[in-house]
Amino acid sequence: MSLEKEIEKRKTFAIISHPDAGKTTLTEKFLLFGGQIQTAGAVKSNKIKKTAASDFMEIEKQRGISVATSVMTFEYKNKLVNILDTPGHKDFAEDTYRTLTAVDSVILVIDCVKGVEEQTERLMEVCRMRKTPVIVFINKMDRDGKDPFDLLDELENKLNIHVHPLSWPINGGSDFKGVYLLHDHSLNLFESQKTKITDDIVNLNGVNDPKLDDLVGVKDASKLREDAELIEGVYGDLNKEKYLKADVAPVFFGSALNNFGIRELLDTFIEIAPTPLSRPTASRAVEPTEQKFSGFIFKIHANLDPKHRDRIAFLRVCSGRFERNKPYEHTRLHKGLRFANPYTFLAQSKEVVDYAYPGDVVGLYDTGNFKIGDTLTEGEDLQFKGIPSFSPEIFKELINLDPMKSKQLEKGIEQLTDEGLASLFKQEPGSRRFVGTVGELQFEVLQYRLEHEYNAKCRFEPRNIHKACWMSGEEEVIREFMKFRMNNIAFDKDNLPVFLAETAFVLRMAQENNPKIQFHLTSEFKL
Ligand code: G4P
Repeated sequence: MSLEKEIEKRKTFAIISHPDAGKTTLTEKFLLFGGQIQTAGAVKSNKIKKTAASDFMEIEKQRGISVATSVMTFEYKNKLVNILDTPGHKDFAEDTYRTLTAVDSVILVIDCVKGVEEQTERLMEVCRMRKTPVIVFINKMDRDGKDPFDLLDELENKLNIHVHPLSWPINGGSDFKGVYLLHDHSLNLFESQKTKITDDIVNLNGVNDPKLDDLVGVKDASKLREDAELIEGVYGDLNKEKYLKADVAPVFFGSALNNFGIRELLDTFIEIAPTPLSRPTASRAVEPTEQKFSGFIFKIHANLDPKHRDRIAFLRVCSGRFERNKPYEHTRLHKGLRFANPYTFLAQSKEVVDYAYPGDVVGLYDTGNFKIGDTLTEGEDLQFKGIPSFSPEIFKELINLDPMKSKQLEKGIEQLTDEGLASLFKQEPGSRRFVGTVGELQFEVLQYRLEHEYNAKCRFEPRNIHKACWMSGEEEVIREFMKFRMNNIAFDKDNLPVFLAETAFVLRMAQENNPKIQFHLTSEFKL
């Protein structure tokens, strides 16, 4: 098959949600449709159980499960769908942000009872920043949830996106009767706990079709007519271009657990979701159709077993064809690398692959060459952009407890932060090391791994830092500011200076007093 055909075939996306909204359940139903699994319950949740909060080894074990489900590939209607899994635990939110850099679109799952939750807001910020097209699935319609119009308002207000309902529910909770598909005027009648994957679709001649009254009752039929008229008046037809530009998000209602409303979601996804897109690099945009291979590392997972110290780097193919055993250029290290056992993922199993195409994710065994964001090419000196670091939430200072082992500690913290487990900020001159994370868990993991893998004992002392801010503006002005605020300046892994603001107030004052500098909460502000 030609490269163009391979690209046209592929859709690479992530399902995102606040924990418990139904991401795992929906993933599983997609795999059922794709014929990759035969029974419900086959997809293990990568959710880290709350009770395990203090037992990080257990957490790492559970995180291990998520390696197996990192990428799930299935075929549906002649398309090859790659679902990139994202961690459920909020302490690993940054893993999720980075996974979002490797997808071309997302499906956002919302619990109709809870509405838009905190983690969803943050994930959507990343999608907005990257202009990632979004389809929304409002889940758990079999439960008594919020009014659907209120949910649409909430989505628009909290997530700052325009929505466009493509299906509309008839009641909810125990009285849920199904959804009306606004674009083709069909009715999907709800049947709870479905094990089959066919829907009871009734084709209607519009909402005024008298059949509707027989099917859902006069009262609900007339409510649906009112709702449908209102929706059609407000939203009209879906503008696919606007969806692709991430200006509007189509919305579906259903129940993942009951396998209800999934088919229309998947069918629409297959029809409208983007195929692998062009990607920006520091020097030019790379088109997927370019003959020469290029790709970047968006995730690294370490093997915790001390007998197998290898790591797995996840590469997203951006252009051309990736080939096993072909030498590629690691552009940051200017080093040639070849991969004898790259693998891809088919549902639960790993398979060594000979070729991979744009949109595909390949697992590469790594002995410490990679850090997140690294680029591989056939020789051209490219660096993919749009894989930013985000300001951590919690900051601690790394304290060495054994001066004889400072080299090991330095190497350990460098390598572990290359994996993306935490962010490292170094102060120069001096040797202070600040480590930032999204959650407390990572400190426990770091401490344990530094001791067991690098033989380096350390402690983390909390530091009063509110945010790490990257700066843009005139170089001279930034240099002056850095001199003046030396104690609050540190350097990230790419040697970019960051301002470590103690409080929100300090940050606000810094911004007010230095109008010529812009402070940013991510390392890449111009995508
Ligand atoms: P997550 O990956 O987003 O964290 O959510 P997950 O799919 O694990 O779903 C969270 C809980 O919500 C699960 O129940 C799941 O069965 C339930 N759920 C998912 N979709 C629906 C739905 O459409 N309707 C209803 N009523 N529930 C739904 P649990 O009790 O936490 O787990 P389990 O013991 O059932 O696995």
